[in-house]
Amino acid sequence: MSTSLTLDSIVPRAKQAWSIMEAIARINLWVGAVRSGKTYASLWRWLLYVRNGPPGALAMIGRTERTLKRNILDVLGELLGPTRFNHVVGAGECYIFGRRIYLYSANDESSKTKIQGLTAAGAYGDEVTTWPESFFTMLLSRLSVPGAQFFGTTNPDAPLHWLKRKFIDRATDLDMRVFHFTLPDNPSLDPAYVESLKKEYVGLWYRRYIQGLWALAEGAIFDMFDEDRHVVRDLGELVNNYGGADYGTSNPTVFLSLSEEPARERYVIHDEWRWASEQEGRQMTDGEYSAAYQHWTHDVHQKRGVERWPRATVVDPSAASFRLQLVTDGVPGVTEADNAVLDGIRDVSTWLANDQLVFHGPSMIETVDEMMGYIWDGKAQARGEDKPVKVNDHGPDTTRYLVRHLKMVPPLAVASNDANISELYGQRRSVWS
Ligand SMILES: Nc1ncnc2c1ncn2[C@@H]1O[C@H](COP(=O)(O)OP(=O)(O)OP(=O)(O)O)[C@@H](O)[C@H]1O
Ligand SMILES: [Mg+2]
Repeated sequence: MSTSLTLDSIVPRAKQAWSIMEAIARINLWVGAVRSGKTYASLWRWLLYVRNGPPGALAMIGRTERTLKRNILDVLGELLGPTRFNHVVGAGECYIFGRRIYLYSANDESSKTKIQGLTAAGAYGDEVTTWPESFFTMLLSRLSVPGAQFFGTTNPDAPLHWLKRKFIDRATDLDMRVFHFTLPDNPSLDPAYVESLKKEYVGLWYRRYIQGLWALAEGAIFDMFDEDRHVVRDLGELVNNYGGADYGTSNPTVFLSLSEEPARERYVIHDEWRWASEQEGRQMTDGEYSAAYQHWTHDVHQKRGVERWPRATVVDPSAASFRLQLVTDGVPGVTEADNAVLDGIRDVSTWLANDQLVFHGPSMIETVDEMMGYIWDGKAQARGEDKPVKVNDHGPDTTRYLVRHLKMVPPLAVASNDANISELYGQRRSVWS
């Protein structure tokens, strides 16, 4: 008998076990904090259903096939082993205990057409708040086999999100059970890990992903931004410089520089460049912007002692013509920025809260003001969507592009020569992650 897998280690405990027994409604939803054991408990319930539920087609759904695989199917593979679980990537189906299960993604409005003709006996859903409402509604209408049930998990989102307003708040009228989970409900988490999780999520995300609340995105987006802490006057030695650009034709175009300040173990945003066509009375061409960028990076290099060219130039994804111009003009390392707005805001928030990111006040024109004036859009919130107000957001957008780039491509360690990159890379990851 295997020594690592004992009954005690695999059987979910307390609240998880209770939720598994109680999940007998037509719609069953595990909602709450990250890592709180929702997927684990709900999958046990799903396995029982696959074994004992009514015959007929079964479905498993994620926002994308990639997230479904990563969050759910890989977990099932580990839990069940190859004899009880079988999934061929790209086949659109998997087998659990020999029973066929159809796999679907629900990432846009057209997704619902994929299940339009389905007659389902049961379904499992991952990250339900990230689905279009139309898919969820269609799925419920397809669960038409008598006794069919839905099991799903999600983190909380906006309080007026369709899932909260139209389903969770009406659970008693809908034959629906909702199980709320927070971190203490997961028996397997190490306290040190819980502490590090709590540092990773700040502000709005702390309320939603740690406290498990359907918290409103209102007021200042960077509510942790504190001029005394985050705006600095003096700079130490700067290394590993990156350039970011937000591009506008009628809106301003902004360049920002981000460097590491190794002595203080933090990143500094510095030396803003800005062109506001409306105020200046004329627009610049892509050629002029590219020339300005090259001059500006040269100035930054001379003033701050960083290398001649930024390690990457991270550009507004919508500015294809400007990116092409930079490449044509020989600017190295031109990269399309990741414009996942909420992920970017979350990354910037975490770095601000942990004092990993500061702004050099004397070389800023407007970015600091924009960071403090960046607010959530109340009208979008009334529709259950989290969106910033799209006014004076060019400095924050450029900051997002830079931080997101660094989060995904961790910078090299202090030394700017390329010796032993992989060693430095590993070292930096552990210090800064
Ligand atoms: N009863 C348990 N026994 C052993 N390990 C568990 C148990 N419950 C959860 N875990 C483990 O804890 C981790 C987090 O659990 P799980 O993935 O279920 O959380 P979650 O609430 O779905 O999180 P997220 O919101 O991030 O998706 C996983 O690695 C899971 O295997
Ligand atoms: Mg989960």
